[in-house]
Amino acid sequence: MTEKYKIQGGETLRGEVSIGGAKNAVLKILAATIMAKGISKIYNVPHLTDVDIILNVLSDLGAKCIYDTTEKSVVVDATSITSITAKYELVSKMRASFIILGALMSRCKEAIVALPGGCAIGERRVDFHIRGLETLGAKIKIENGYVHAKASKLVGSDIYLDIPSVGATENLMLAAVTAQGATRIQNAAREPEIIDLANFLNAIGADISGAGTSEIVINGVTQDKLHAVEYTTIPDRIEAGTFMAAVVATKGKAVIKNVYPAHLTFFNDKLIQMGASIKLVEPTTIEVSCKNRLNSINFVTQPYPGFPTDLQAIAMTLLTTANGVGIITESLYENRFMQVPDLRRMGADIHQDRNHAIVKGVKKLEGATVVASDLRAGAALVIAGLIANGETIVEKLHHIDRGYEEFENKLTNLGAKIVRFNDTESEATHNSNVISIKGVL
Ligand code: EPU
Repeated sequence: MTEKYKIQGGETLRGEVSIGGAKNAVLKILAATIMAKGISKIYNVPHLTDVDIILNVLSDLGAKCIYDTTEKSVVVDATSITSITAKYELVSKMRASFIILGALMSRCKEAIVALPGGCAIGERRVDFHIRGLETLGAKIKIENGYVHAKASKLVGSDIYLDIPSVGATENLMLAAVTAQGATRIQNAAREPEIIDLANFLNAIGADISGAGTSEIVINGVTQDKLHAVEYTTIPDRIEAGTFMAAVVATKGKAVIKNVYPAHLTFFNDKLIQMGASIKLVEPTTIEVSCKNRLNSINFVTQPYPGFPTDLQAIAMTLLTTANGVGIITESLYENRFMQVPDLRRMGADIHQDRNHAIVKGVKKLEGATVVASDLRAGAALVIAGLIANGETIVEKLHHIDRGYEEFENKLTNLGAKIVRFNDTESEATHNSNVISIKGVL
């Protein structure tokens, strides 16, 4: 059964919205809970299908997980790990599951993890993860689509990443926690989610410094030094950026709560250049507004603290009706302009050549039936629907459900006209596709 959004464009978003926990921090922190024996509790966990998947990975390894979707917390009992294999059926559903490789190497010194394969937005290789583990002393075999990593012991070493890969930095950081001696990851990714993961690891007993800079030092500790903890994750900067863009696109005004503005400086700066106003109300609350037609801007996606690739499609939607011509260069992924054909179907004027897109602002988009090809492209099309004339149908909502918690409810509270429906029902209210696993795993 495929679920869809029906959006009636033209409403101005006003009011208040609260941002949930950061998907890309939560997934890695949940994976890392298996590194310490005992019962950990993680707070500020958004209710997303990607969280369901990582919990299935953990429970397959023998951990017991309870996801309280009301409290937005997860309890993981990792006292006993009974398997070292992360199956293709789970890893293929979500690439982030590959993080379990580092967690298992840290705890068990052996892991068999399915290779994730390509995905809609690009090739997304894992060669840095594998080379880094080999540098730490793991013997790696690739057999039948699985990575089999084993080491009698891991030994700290210097690792240089060709590019500051988020996933490789995280996987190697996890593996190095119980390596003998010091590991230095150079050209490390600097994303806030890396800092959050390092903070969690330090809370369970690891010795990590430099997270958030391009050199992270991990002084190895013995496995028995690690202990379970309670930990609260940071807010999701991409969800915050998505709502900021939606408000600005509709020339609205809204208060956005539970946001760390310092995590969004580059994006904020671009929104202000486009004509938006962003005021700090409290340390974790901002007010976003926009009165006039936006101005076009140029931007290049870059690793943090540059313009986030995860907000590229969403920013492209803003450019479709801005005044002038904007040029976007996508420098992280080979194929992250999947939203372009659908935005064109809504009347956008976009010329794309490999990783460059030239967007000439039109006066108005027109509603159409469009397809969410991935998570962020899906969010970009929803925002396009909010500003288009007439009705827009967005198909394949399972992509959006991976990363946005109660998306249509939050938008409805801000005044948007958006409903979820499926082929058998003409109109349903909300979130019928999200599997609640409260108390089950
Ligand atoms: N790369 C390699 N070899 C590697 C690792 C990465 O060539 O071994 C390349 C990738 O192919 C890609 C680039 O390096 O072209 C960047 O990849 P990175 O490893 O930094 O990304 P990731 O860890 O796979 C995370 C987020 C993505 C986000 C990127 C970049 C999670 C679960 N995912 O992916 O988020 O786009 O960092 O910031 O943390 C999303 O949330 O929608 C999303 C895709």
